[in-house]
Amino acid sequence: MEPAMIVHGGAWGIPDDAVDAHLRGVSSGAEAGHGLLRRGQSALDAVEAAVAVMEDDPTFDAGRGAFLNKIGQVELDAMIMDGNGLRAGAVAAVRNIRNPVRLARAVMERSRLVLIAGPGANLFARAVGVPACRTQDLLVGRELARWRAIRKKKRFRVREIFDTIQAGQRRGTVGAVAIDRRGDLAAATSTGGVPHKPPGRVGDSPIVGAGAYADNETGAVSATGWGEPILRVLLSKTACDLMGDGLSPGTACRRALSVMRRRVDGIGGLVAMDRRGRPGFSFNTPRMAWACVGPGGKRRKGI
Ligand code: GLY
Repeated sequence: MEPAMIVHGGAWGIPDDAVDAHLRGVSSGAEAGHGLLRRGQSALDAVEAAVAVMEDDPTFDAGRGAFLNKIGQVELDAMIMDGNGLRAGAVAAVRNIRNPVRLARAVMERSRLVLIAGPGANLFARAVGVPACRTQDLLVGRELARWRAIRKKKRFRVREIFDTIQAGQRRGTVGAVAIDRRGDLAAATSTGGVPHKPPGRVGDSPIVGAGAYADNETGAVSATGWGEPILRVLLSKTACDLMGDGLSPGTACRRALSVMRRRVDGIGGLVAMDRRGRPGFSFNTPRMAWACVGPGGKRRKGI
């Protein structure tokens, strides 16, 4: 099987002045993951590496640079899934972890659990030797300024950041899907959620079937967008099931998004790969940042 991968850096109203940073960020993620695939490493290694690169990039709402919650904390969600055996690991509302996707992988491989939330995730991190970072390592000044500005507003609607293009908004969930030489699929997603979320709010990203899904028998998907509607239709699993029914990855993504729009008025985007290694994507927001290294090493990116 020829290895391939596709990543996203968020589906929302990305303004023109943030386009270049997003394209650079998603390209770096895709190259990092594909470099490992070329050297024979697994799809799991590739999606973990791609997402970790984008978590380190403050362009995105994941890891460093994530949105602050209502009380000024950085709470992060992430998951990873192995299409070979349907293994999954996730962390939710975790603080002081630089790369939540790496902790999610430790949950999958070093515990019998799937999802650990809040302070329990930090206890687990300590037990398996994943170091804590300082809040300052995750916090960027721009987000502190945004948090202060939102606090002054009488009313703040989360939906607006997804469906209108607004200068100064520079955030998006990140995710990756990949297939390796053995034909194994994997998916991963990481996010800081939505701005000004209540403490403890968990979105779609760390929930199996919502934020991501991977099944060697159907395909792999990572989702981005407004978390609550994504959760209610298990968007990633819906798209995987549609690939299992024979739809191409792009058509499966479009169809799953239209189900979400029709049933719960949701907005977002998806990247996907089927078990033959064909990539695809779709979004119903103004823009979504994506990059792909497809079969034959063919590189594409867009927004
Ligand atoms: N999709 C990210 C979130 O709503 O948490």
